[in-house]
Amino acid sequence: MSLIEWNDAFSVGIQKIDEQHKKFFSITNLLFDSMRGAQDREVIGSVLKELQQYVVYHFKAEESLMKMYNYPNMNAHKQEHDGAIHIVNKLVLDYERGIHTVDIELLKFLSDWIQSHILQVDRKYIPYVRGKV
Ligand SMILES: [Fe+2]
Ligand SMILES: [Fe+2]
Repeated sequence: MSLIEWNDAFSVGIQKIDEQHKKFFSITNLLFDSMRGAQDREVIGSVLKELQQYVVYHFKAEESLMKMYNYPNMNAHKQEHDGAIHIVNKLVLDYERGIHTVDIELLKFLSDWIQSHILQVDRKYIPYVRGKV
């Protein structure tokens, strides 16, 4: 069983972005599997790093699309992204220092954040970029 599963409700109608969101789901599921499989710290730590890098990559891609098509709420959207980057950076640091572990609460938080961000925040730029990309 996966923690989060993709369905068409998550589609923003832009193939490149949908693929990136699917990749997010798969990294989150991989983190879930590593936790359940009681993988050692290094394995879990490397999945966390992958998530951290992908977050930055995806947010940059989305922000450049929004900029290109003059999306009017770009600043508020970017603030949401920056907040998430901050949380993930802290998570990686805390994990490396042994202050935090990867547990089900954390995974629930991550999967809820990703899902609600796509459904409530990302979807709002659809009318501004769809059909133009
Ligand atoms: Fe976004
Ligand atoms: Fe997104």
